[in-house]
Amino acid sequence: MDNTALQRYFASDNAAPVHPRVMQALADCNTGHALSYGADTVSERCQHRFRELFGKQSETFLVYNGTGANVVAVAAALRSHQAVICSDVAHINTDECGAVEALTGCKLLPVKTSDGKVSVEECAALLPDPNFVHHVQPGMLSLTQSSELGTVYSPDELRRLCDFAHRHGLVVHMDGARIANAAAALGCSLSEVSTECGVDILSFGGTKNGLMFGEAIVCRDPNSLPALPFMRKQTAQLSSKMRYIAAQFETLLQDELWRENAVHANKAAAKLAAGLEEFAEVSLAFKVEANAVFVRVPLDWIPHLQRHELFYVWKPEQGLIRLMCSYDTERQDIDRLLGRFREVAGQ
Ligand SMILES: Cc1ncc(COP(=O)(O)O)c(C=O)c1O
Repeated sequence: MDNTALQRYFASDNAAPVHPRVMQALADCNTGHALSYGADTVSERCQHRFRELFGKQSETFLVYNGTGANVVAVAAALRSHQAVICSDVAHINTDECGAVEALTGCKLLPVKTSDGKVSVEECAALLPDPNFVHHVQPGMLSLTQSSELGTVYSPDELRRLCDFAHRHGLVVHMDGARIANAAAALGCSLSEVSTECGVDILSFGGTKNGLMFGEAIVCRDPNSLPALPFMRKQTAQLSSKMRYIAAQFETLLQDELWRENAVHANKAAAKLAAGLEEFAEVSLAFKVEANAVFVRVPLDWIPHLQRHELFYVWKPEQGLIRLMCSYDTERQDIDRLLGRFREVAGQ
């Protein structure tokens, strides 16, 4: 691996640095004393801004990270005999070390998916007999927007899923670690791809779109989830120095910086995908709708590519790799990576 410190890679959108405006906001709010646990003026302004975007009845709870946001959402909405329906590739199912199960006692009911998205029909098959005490009772449907495989739920798909969930008494949670990429891809507002479709509780991501740390839990109707503030504290997700998370989100939401960053990352992914399609040996595994590019490559290409580039090998046995674009991905990064592919293809 060469020049690791100087280059931008495709390992993760989390690997990108903090956006300079966010860094500036952190420095700017770092003066004087401020009340703790969200009682400061920056946090109040941030709450106000979230209400402008998600409705004045909504309430937003800032937390440290995405796993924490998902845990708090489940803990606030369900009891331990209940379960969460999600896709089999959902981050809560595959990449959170069982945090939801361990900290809430709730079982996850994964739905097998081919493209990261779940359908009403697949979810319906998991609904048990409500009077059978031997089975956990689904209490939540959790959807990831954009999905872990880089696909995006359209507002129509979301409305259908939310209507189904509500008809069966399920709370709808959205893991929106990359909701900005989904909204940018669809040319929609943040609420149009979440709460306006019926999502009840949203883990709104920041770190994959330029923040240093922090996630926001947006609650469409806080009265329906009265346990939420308590569960945030009990699960160690209530920050005493809240102003530093709030200042970052305030900046991300100002002048739609979130959209600017996400559009940039999505466009980079589209360019990369177009370049990779030129190789006969390479095939796109899923539609490239947001900032993730999943491709299948010949197995013996992977070690060569890994000598020079950082990326995630999703399914080694299938030659499936994930190339993630970020708000700071440059044309030259894409050209460099395509050059590596050309080298290994012997072109
Ligand atoms: C879809 C999704 N949800 C949640 C998370 C969790 O984020 P964190 O690492 O901040 O806990 C991630 C992180 O990669 C993610 O990709």
